[in-house]
Amino acid sequence: MYNTYIYRFSMHSDEYGKLIAVEDNKVVPFLIKRIYYIFDVGNEIRRGFHSHIDLRQMLICLHGSVKILTKTPYEEAIVELNDPSKGLYIGPMVWREMFDFSTGAVLLVLASEYYDESDYIRNYQEYASLAKDFLKQKEGENK
Ligand code: TYD
Repeated sequence: MYNTYIYRFSMHSDEYGKLIAVEDNKVVPFLIKRIYYIFDVGNEIRRGFHSHIDLRQMLICLHGSVKILTKTPYEEAIVELNDPSKGLYIGPMVWREMFDFSTGAVLLVLASEYYDESDYIRNYQEYASLAKDFLKQKEGENK
């Protein structure tokens, strides 16, 4: 799916437990300027409902599970994050929704920029129209 992929972190595992180190510009393909985490989300809640214009993110479910819908005007995918050794990268101009949070789920997000509301597109129709232009332009650049 466009601008998204699953990344498997390498794990230091021994009889004492497991450890994962995430370093920016190595494991994640950007400098981490911000981290935030989402927790205490009811099972029936669906959130997200936006795209970013420039922001790149890596989503890691540290505990429990959550489903992530990613979508462009042309394709969509649902990924279940249920393993702290797995990250979902989401680049610019991809619509996302998060749902089916298990009780106690903790979703960690590593982000390439500080919080900036002007980088959000929160209306799907507006997103779809901008994304069509954006993807057409990208296609032209790749020819
Ligand atoms: P929002 O990004 O809309 O959450 P979600 O996409 O998961 O539904 O953010 C929820 C609220 O938190 C919103 O009022 C903006 C605020 N917020 C910050 O102040 N800083 C941040 O880094 C983030 C991600 C959100």
